[in-house]
Amino acid sequence: PPIDEILNLHDFEAVAKTILPDKAWAYYSSASDDEITLRENRAAFQRVWFRPRVLRDVTTVDWSTTILGQKSSLPVYISATALGKLGHPDGEINLTRAAAKHGVIQMIPTLASCSFDEIVDAAQPGQPLFVQLYVNRDREITRKYVQHAEKRGVKGLFITVDAPQLGRREKDMRMKFVDDSGTAKVQEGQQDVKKDQGVARAISSFIDPSLSWKDIPWFRSITSMPIILKGIATPEDAILAYEAGVQGIVLSNHGGRQLDTARSGLENLVEIVAALKQRGPWPNPKFSIFIDGGVRRASDVLKALALGASAVGVGRGFLYAFCSYGQEGVERAIQILRDEFEMNMRLLGARNLNEIEPNMVDASALHSH
Ligand code: FNR
Repeated sequence: PPIDEILNLHDFEAVAKTILPDKAWAYYSSASDDEITLRENRAAFQRVWFRPRVLRDVTTVDWSTTILGQKSSLPVYISATALGKLGHPDGEINLTRAAAKHGVIQMIPTLASCSFDEIVDAAQPGQPLFVQLYVNRDREITRKYVQHAEKRGVKGLFITVDAPQLGRREKDMRMKFVDDSGTAKVQEGQQDVKKDQGVARAISSFIDPSLSWKDIPWFRSITSMPIILKGIATPEDAILAYEAGVQGIVLSNHGGRQLDTARSGLENLVEIVAALKQRGPWPNPKFSIFIDGGVRRASDVLKALALGASAVGVGRGFLYAFCSYGQEGVERAIQILRDEFEMNMRLLGARNLNEIEPNMVDASALHSH
């Protein structure tokens, strides 16, 4: 359909499903095992209700913010999704260019189809970018990658900690990995690509399962970028992260692609915020909490902010937008979110994001299902 018939982020998914090659659709849409966490990521948002305030003069509303000290036109960043060229010939650069035009921050995946430098070269001068890291068994490769990213001006290092082994995405595993167009510029040092295990497993054998809390000081020693641990799911680990001195965490289950029946980031947010409040200042400008998973509407984002998140990541929403319409699709997705923020904030009675407060949501049903 023509792009002006796309009215929300779900619409991009419907288009992507009809136009993507089977292999790409299987890799992008799949989640692990019975895909219960995938479903729950959406469902959790539907158990939180708004408590809107009225008569607050909402003529002017502003949903801009900063994320890790970087300006962002939305309280949303583009989360890393690997292998963009499976779905569109320009791959991740669609995101980079749209992000530049609309002041949004993109997180570059380790397993991008475009090379890291191609993506950074496509950015505008001064455009903030984050990078997602899968830690290589060969730490020299990781050290070089991280330090190169910092040298090229990247503003945040998101270390993925929920994937010591990739989840079994059975839809993807049924597709044989064929090394043709659009596969990753896989990191050097990766051996034995297994061609009979689906895309995800074929490209991930370099990831180091021995990674542990003891490695955090090493990361701190090789970079001065803010370090964020992506894939935290419990207050126990949130506190370990806080005590390890990193700059933030992403409450994420990797879009349902890792441990199936792990809870949603939104559900974990409530108890993690409560635990962190007991440990230190709140809100803490030195420790950010992000969530991702299932976010498709500005209303989802506002619920997460009300419950204590500082910003929210969107993976498939933007991925499906560029698979369907390239850069223009991502721009449209951003515009749709912008319109949704304007309307929802007016209807909620919040003129800016500081006015989004815990009492604007009723989360009492979040845990009862
Ligand atoms: C991902 N995600 C991901 N995360 C990561 O740390 N490294 C990666 O390489 C990838 N790759 C990836 C590929 C695809 C196709 C998807 C759908 C997801 C997870 C991603 O960053 C994010 O956590 C989720 O996508 C959030 O859920 P939604 O927005 O897709 O529902």
